Amino acid sequence: MPDRANDLIGEILRRVHEVIVEHDVTYEEYQTAKQWFIDVGEAGEWPLFGDVFVEHVVEEQAFGKREGSQGTILGPFHLPDAPLLDAPFELPHRPDESGDRTHVSGRVTGADGTPLANANLDVWQADAEGCYSSFMPGPPAGNLRGQVRTDADGRYAFITVIPGPYTIPLDGPTGKMTAAAGWSPWRPAHIHLIVSAEGYDPLVTQLFIDSSDYLDSDVASAVKPELLVHPELRGDGEFELHYDFALAPARSHAVA
Ligand code: DHB
Ligand code: FE
Repeated sequence: MPDRANDLIGEILRRVHEVIVEHDVTYEEYQTAKQWFIDVGEAGEWPLFGDVFVEHVVEEQAFGKREGSQGTILGPFHLPDAPLLDAPFELPHRPDESGDRTHVSGRVTGADGTPLANANLDVWQADAEGCYSSFMPGPPAGNLRGQVRTDADGRYAFITVIPGPYTIPLDGPTGKMTAAAGWSPWRPAHIHLIVSAEGYDPLVTQLFIDSSDYLDSDVASAVKPELLVHPELRGDGEFELHYDFALAPARSHAVA
């Protein structure tokens, strides 16, 4: 695809050059930026940077007009091969896991309403302190990650805790850039899912807790109004929330 590479790389560089000219960027600023690129690489933060500041536009462009439920960004904290759980489904957690215990349930259908039996929901989330297992100190490996299946009517249900909001690492180069620009480093509380069924496009999405702070200032710009959920307090002191997922039929050509 040399034409495509030529077009995209050429256009990106032209736009960078325009910013330099329009804002009269100095040699000092250029050197600062160059060191920052080096620092992001050394800190291993390119995936973080891309998923926070770029992925949401790619997602909207790729899937925003697709039939069925809205998707949003994958983010950097998905791990493939989370265990397939047994019913009754409950995400693995510490015996003393903090946070509000919550029953999440709903239905998986095709965009035309056909119930999808044995659909897979790959679920991962931060704990109540905003920490993802395997990426941050605190939770043990596998904490709050697992795969859940729908029943014969396309219904799913699992138990988890309400996650806390999350800040991108403040002391790394991405956090420093965010602070330098005066932006909030927070993501609102959310649960990640990849919902998949044979013959349908996998849906990569997140459910946002509607009482969370930072819904209007998500550093990753990934909140969509269709993805807000409302946990209700039940009589037994636990919460429940509902969400139905509708999947678009598989497209004839695969997307990498
Ligand atoms: C980032 C963190 C997330 O939890 C997420 O969903 C998306 C992006 C991040 O820090 O890059
Ligand atoms: Fe996340």
